Amino acid sequence: MSLQNLFKPGTLGQYTLPHRIIMAPLTRSRSAQPGDIPHDLNAQYYAQRSTAALIISEATQISQQGKGYAFTPGIHSQEQINGWKKVTKAVHENGSKIFMQLWHVGRVSHSSLQPNNQLPVAPSAIAVDGQAFTYEGMQDFEIPRALESDEMVEIINQYRQASQNALEAGFDGVEIHAANGYLLDQFLKDGTNKRHDQYGGTIENRVRLILEVTQAVTEVLGGDRVGIRISPTGSFNSMSDSDPQSLNQYLIKKLNDYNLAYLHVVENFGDSDNSHFNFDNLRHLFNGAYIANGGYTGESAERSLSEGKSDFVSFGSAFIANPDLPTRLKQNAKLSQPDQDTFYGGDAKGYTDYPTLKDENREMK
Ligand SMILES: Cc1cc2nc3c(=O)[nH]c(=O)nc-3n(C[C@H](O)[C@H](O)[C@H](O)COP(=O)(O)O)c2cc1C
Repeated sequence: MSLQNLFKPGTLGQYTLPHRIIMAPLTRSRSAQPGDIPHDLNAQYYAQRSTAALIISEATQISQQGKGYAFTPGIHSQEQINGWKKVTKAVHENGSKIFMQLWHVGRVSHSSLQPNNQLPVAPSAIAVDGQAFTYEGMQDFEIPRALESDEMVEIINQYRQASQNALEAGFDGVEIHAANGYLLDQFLKDGTNKRHDQYGGTIENRVRLILEVTQAVTEVLGGDRVGIRISPTGSFNSMSDSDPQSLNQYLIKKLNDYNLAYLHVVENFGDSDNSHFNFDNLRHLFNGAYIANGGYTGESAERSLSEGKSDFVSFGSAFIANPDLPTRLKQNAKLSQPDQDTFYGGDAKGYTDYPTLKDENREMK
């Protein structure tokens, strides 16, 4: 199968990208400690993957309260901004672009990671099933503290400041992380949002925080350098919603007011059941580019593009093990398989030591 659509240039907000293969955000938990600071090893990792038309950074906490895993990077201190400068410089020198994924984890955290060891925060006091990845090892999730209505202003300000910091660090744009069960997704879905104030109850109220965050972020960057990621059918982090189609239709129609560069949709991740969801419907409602994600191969990505179901396709795990993924897809070459034991935390092993095709050919000689 010829992958001609995959290798056509495409428009994403204010940018023209050389092809349609995007690197999905991937948490790798390898920032320098203390301080959650990106460093040279991270710059090398992203530089190696600059074959992507666009890189979306690993999820990056906008505040200490927004942190939920050991070793993840932040964007709320000057040291972190300076560390990210190394990353953006390396990516730009290698000819790609990079957006930062802005992250507040909400309840998916642990008091040992929070300021003054306070409880994590959430729309409602409902715990996630499972365990948090902390510096003391895996620990059970606690029952989070429900946020007061007047605390939302502070969280929105964290997003605004993080956007400014991302700009200072040299990012080409930002992606608002409203997927995979983190704070904004927790407000969106009625399985986690049981509030009775203006941020809970009706769909209009549950969408409010995302729209206020989007307003703040686009004030800093303009809509054409901002994307948003959602996972309408995702159950990761104990998520559920009673009517995802209506919820997401309403959200997309409202998001159109901000002229965003893209909508990034996790269509399939983990054990989510997406069989009853109509993703085409969201694509047609949205007025920017649609990035499809979740389990795509070169061929299924090409099919999605040629059938008009997406404008770009992002690849996650394939980019972990194949820094030169676009070249491999173009040449129909074999893909390396990622080692799950080195996904989160550690050093260069399983991070910057995956070979390119060129490396492999050199080894064979
Ligand atoms: C190791 C790992 C880390 C991930 N980290 C993030 C993240 O930081 N932010 C996010 O939105 N999704 C994250 N994801 C989800 C991926 O972006 C992607 O949606 C998922 O892997 C499905 O795409 P794929 O089938 O191409 O891998 C992560 C996935 C993996 C495997």
